Amino acid sequence: MTEHTTPLDPEKLPRHVAIIMDGNGRWAQRQGLHRVRGHVVGAESVRVVTRLARKLGISYLTLFAFSEENWQRPNMEIRVLMALLRRYLHRELSEMRDNQIALQAIGNLAQLPEAVQRDLAQTIAATADGARMVLTLALSYGGRSEIVEAVKTLARDIAAGALKPEDIDAARFSRYLFTADLPDPDLLIRTSGEYRLSNFLLWQSAYTELYVTETLWPDFREDDLRKALEAYQQRDRRFGLTQAQIEALNG
Ligand code: FPP
Repeated sequence: MTEHTTPLDPEKLPRHVAIIMDGNGRWAQRQGLHRVRGHVVGAESVRVVTRLARKLGISYLTLFAFSEENWQRPNMEIRVLMALLRRYLHRELSEMRDNQIALQAIGNLAQLPEAVQRDLAQTIAATADGARMVLTLALSYGGRSEIVEAVKTLARDIAAGALKPEDIDAARFSRYLFTADLPDPDLLIRTSGEYRLSNFLLWQSAYTELYVTETLWPDFREDDLRKALEAYQQRDRRFGLTQAQIEALNG
């Protein structure tokens, strides 16, 4: 049974939803289970949320699945997360293809185990023609490193004479980021009640609406996504302008 009743306005859905999937470990520990059980059940939330986002017509979904900092976790936990990721890629391939979902990955992917890199590359290639939704997994991802890498490439282009410093603006800089082909997120959801960005999409979230829920990621299911979208639909997005200016722009 679902407690959610308010229908969502299909005209006001976010184009790009990003999610910090937090609280897997706490979910498991609260039930006396090993932390990794939280990741196993969290992978099921990934399936459910992706399916609903696709059904509702959200064009871009970006999930923070493994941060740069997560490499410092116990080896066993890292191994389980990598195994879960591979299992997810194998299991979801046909569903992604059937639903025209294109998989993408952002982050320092070269740090991932070779088997994960191979499965990722295969899934990305096999879903490349998916035109209904782009599902991006952030893996070994850190926002500051992403910006630093972009600056390095930009500096090389300037040194090579391919770009002049005066030609750099925010739009051009964005094209040096992993997310060059993605619009900025409209809505960033964080589960487990923490009010932090945790190094996720730092540049891209400049004007993103933030939504924090106490729900732990393994419990985050259809109704929770609907509630987050409903909250988003009640926000006034002004991008630094006045309400009168926004109304004039909207005609
Ligand atoms: C944060 O919970 C979550 C992660 C570090 C990993 C997210 C991974 C999954 C949801 C499952 C696998 C992913 C895919 C795409 C199949 P935490 O462990 O930091 O929780 P805690 O803060 O309660 O310890």
